[in-house]
Amino acid sequence: MVSRKHPCAIAIALFFAVMFSHAAAYDPLDPNGNITIKWDVMSWTPDGYVAVVTMTNFQMYRHIMTPGWTLGWVWAKKEVIWSMVGAQATEQGDCSKFKGTIPHCCKKNPTIVDLLPGVPYNQQIANCCKGGVVASWGQDSSAAVSSFQVSVGRSGSSNKTVKLPKNFTLLGPGPGYTCSQAKIVPSTVFLTPDSRRKTQALMTWNVTCTYSQLLASQKPTCCVSMSSFYNSTITPCPSCACGCQNKQHCVNATDSKLSSVVALNNRAKSNSPLLQCTQHMCPIRVHWHVKLNYKQFWRVKIAVTNFNYRSNYTQWTLVAEHPNLNNITQVFSFVYKPLVPYTSKNDTGLFYGIKFYNDVLVAAGPDGNLQSELILTKDEETFTFKEGWAFPRKIYFNGDECMMPPPDSYPFLPNSAHRNLLSLPKLVLIFSLLAVLAFS
Ligand SMILES: *[C@@H]1O[C@H](CO)[C@@H](O)[C@H](O)[C@H]1NC(C)=O
Ligand SMILES: *[C@@H]1O[C@H](CO)[C@@H](O)[C@H](O)[C@H]1NC(C)=O
Ligand SMILES: *[C@@H]1O[C@H](CO)[C@@H](O)[C@H](O)[C@H]1NC(C)=O
Ligand SMILES: *[C@@H]1O[C@H](CO)[C@@H](O)[C@H](O)[C@H]1NC(C)=O
Ligand SMILES: *[C@@H]1O[C@H](CO)[C@@H](O)[C@H](O)[C@H]1NC(C)=O
Ligand SMILES: *[C@@H]1O[C@H](CO)[C@@H](O)[C@H](O)[C@H]1NC(C)=O
Ligand SMILES: *[C@@H]1O[C@H](CO)[C@@H](O)[C@H](O)[C@H]1NC(C)=O
Ligand SMILES: *[C@@H]1O[C@H](CO)[C@@H](O)[C@H](O)[C@H]1NC(C)=O
Ligand SMILES: *[C@@H]1O[C@H](CO)[C@@H](O)[C@H](O)[C@H]1NC(C)=O
Repeated sequence: MVSRKHPCAIAIALFFAVMFSHAAAYDPLDPNGNITIKWDVMSWTPDGYVAVVTMTNFQMYRHIMTPGWTLGWVWAKKEVIWSMVGAQATEQGDCSKFKGTIPHCCKKNPTIVDLLPGVPYNQQIANCCKGGVVASWGQDSSAAVSSFQVSVGRSGSSNKTVKLPKNFTLLGPGPGYTCSQAKIVPSTVFLTPDSRRKTQALMTWNVTCTYSQLLASQKPTCCVSMSSFYNSTITPCPSCACGCQNKQHCVNATDSKLSSVVALNNRAKSNSPLLQCTQHMCPIRVHWHVKLNYKQFWRVKIAVTNFNYRSNYTQWTLVAEHPNLNNITQVFSFVYKPLVPYTSKNDTGLFYGIKFYNDVLVAAGPDGNLQSELILTKDEETFTFKEGWAFPRKIYFNGDECMMPPPDSYPFLPNSAHRNLLSLPKLVLIFSLLAVLAFS
């Protein structure tokens, strides 16, 4: 009767199972999120084909930031890339066997990057040349596409001889994505600009890449702190939420030589973050302040702070889960869009900056923060300031889940029976402790 003796152990095992199944590329707030890479063969050539490769980011709130994507694959046979438009292979490889025209790339496993904006028109195609930056679908679906054209040789030039490339890899810009095998799908149908004629690709295959935060980094990259008008205690981010000071190099913000230290470190041109020293060591902190209580409404202030001296977060996104987001009345300074992953639930929303105003969260320092306020309409049946109800259930910054403080440290109402935590908050507590374990 194991189950009677160790119900707790079983519960823990179950929670771990849930944690790790989620870790395996399933995001409950964006269950259909993926990046799809589609190859459309547009024409056959004497020894191969010309294909347009289109990458579409269907993820609602995870974009690809500068320095952009890097796409790789392994050729199934001895293919070469004769030429590319709108992107380039980072290495040519050994083309010594070729006389006359030299291919663009002879590597068995080419690595492709986007071109930078402003390249000559004859090197561009539609949706190319954005430095590999791809918006999230929720933020701007028209900018969630990136394309290039590739002319492939030595592949054969019929749908019977062409073998699909293998082992796709995608950096966006860091690790985290796992790509499926290429699969032949029904040929894409194109409509002419005047919509009077349809054409179709000679052959089409798709690859789907999904994101896992645990593959991207072993530690969280942001954390949540909290405060309220009804309790003067500020609940900080958990200590060592993203790392510990004694183990990681950081810059002391009170250092009088701060700017020279940062300038010197930046000249080192490393890609790793240069963080301001904090007890949580996260590059990003999201603060949720329950600011005011009106008769019918309540007001929340959200502040996002950048502690990374090496990163301007362009086109940043913030996702919050809170049961009252179904009745959000006004949002100041940020754009808000409800995300409805399951039609029965409407408790998750996407926030992002207004273009040219606050769509960039600049590097750590006096300007490295952003703020917004929300007004929510109270629902008489569920609204309460008790038991941390007013605080978010989950926060994501740029598609990565932020570490929350343990529920028993949330600011609570004076005289509220905080010791009589309901079973639900207790479950939440167990869950977050396990999350701490899983991330540490
Ligand atoms: C990829 O995302 C699209 C859009 O959400 C969805 O229709 C498709 O089923 C997804 N593909 C996979 C393999 O999950
Ligand atoms: C292939 O990818 C495109 C997006 O580029 C998508 O619209 C289409 O549904 C995908 N096809 C299949 C069968 O997944
Ligand atoms: C190749 O093309 C022929 C003729 O269009 C078609 O019948 C066949 O299904 C195609 N095969 C593949 C693998 O796409
Ligand atoms: C592709 O990946 C698989 C599994 O990771 C590996 O076994 C195989 O050798 C790779 N194929 C090539 C051609 O690199
Ligand atoms: C940061 O600087 C302040 C003042 O110079 C000092 O008191 C503090 O110990 C320093 N902290 C670290 C982590 O170096
Ligand atoms: C961030 O942007 C500002 C203004 O565009 C620029 O001066 C600064 O060098 C950028 N910092 C980083 C780390 O890219
Ligand atoms: C979800 O809530 C928002 C308000 O926050 C509302 O505008 C939207 O219509 C709701 N959507 C659904 C499907 O209930
Ligand atoms: C929002 O709140 C108002 C006032 O309580 C209520 O009438 C309305 O039904 C609520 N809307 C939703 C989607 O819950
Ligand atoms: C405020 O909340 C903290 C828990 O975060 C609690 O220890 C403290 O007693 C509360 N203050 C009051 C006045 O209730």
